[in-house]
Amino acid sequence: MTERMNPDRKRPVALVTGATSGIGRATAFKLASDGFLMLVHGRDDARGAETVKLIEADGGFAHFVRADLTNPEDVTRLAEQAGDAEVLVNNAGMSWFGPTADLDVSTFDRLFAGNVRASYQLVAALAPKMAARGIGSIISVDSMSGTVGLAGGAAYGATKAALSAMSRAWAAEFSPAGVRVNTVAPGPVFSEGASPARIEVLGSTTLLGRGAQVEEIAEVIAFLASPRASYITGARIPVDGGRTAV
Ligand SMILES: NC(=O)c1ccc[n+]([C@@H]2O[C@H](COP(=O)([O-])OP(=O)(O)OC[C@H]3O[C@@H](n4cnc5c(N)ncnc54)[C@H](OP(=O)(O)O)[C@@H]3O)[C@@H](O)[C@H]2O)c1
Repeated sequence: MTERMNPDRKRPVALVTGATSGIGRATAFKLASDGFLMLVHGRDDARGAETVKLIEADGGFAHFVRADLTNPEDVTRLAEQAGDAEVLVNNAGMSWFGPTADLDVSTFDRLFAGNVRASYQLVAALAPKMAARGIGSIISVDSMSGTVGLAGGAAYGATKAALSAMSRAWAAEFSPAGVRVNTVAPGPVFSEGASPARIEVLGSTTLLGRGAQVEEIAEVIAFLASPRASYITGARIPVDGGRTAV
């Protein structure tokens, strides 16, 4: 975070990865309305600019930072831009569903690079600074695929389970110094990146009988980012309409 981006340092800074679309964008809107200066991350300049404009039109403050999370140098630059962020939301993720035999090695590696390694790099860069200041909240977006077996989702589900495993270890490492670390595990969510037909079908298998709207996931992430969740760390919170409860 440069002086130019946050001149008076009055606002706490929150970085949301993948904030140009879907759950990430809804989370960025919510955190901006909760008073954070938003670092809106994504790859697409036009969607980034549009997201910043919408936050500003609502009275919030935001900057767009472009980085491809599968590229470790880009992630290092993103972490430098995030500087003294008080909140990190590891939301960006790519998914791949299909027959296991059809997943090529380079796509498998990209899934793990973008979904797992990038989050690890960001936490490694930002969490020690949060710990030194004695305050911070890190939320990573898991998925119901991290705990239930969905046909065709072995690699994607493994990336999500890895995020929750890392988050429990990060809670053990950083929470004694005041940094809370949690994951949110959505069920099917109607987002720009998800096929509506697939979300309809998966939604019908939940106890509530429907898929979620992005705001229903953002609400829980924003709660975990806030002092209202001051005694929650090391937790994985399903937001899945009861899909994994029974
Ligand atoms: N939708 C669901 O049903 C569902 C369910 C459970 C969990 N989740 C998880 O929730 C998170 C958000 O999902 P969503 O459906 O809201 O996603 P989405 O609408 O497809 O948006 C994905 C976001 O991540 C960014 N992104 C993807 N790959 C990236 C990469 N390699 N480098 C940089 N940015 C990248 C995109 O940036 P650009 O558009 O700028 O490229 C975009 O902002 C993901 O982690 C997903 O696994 C989703």
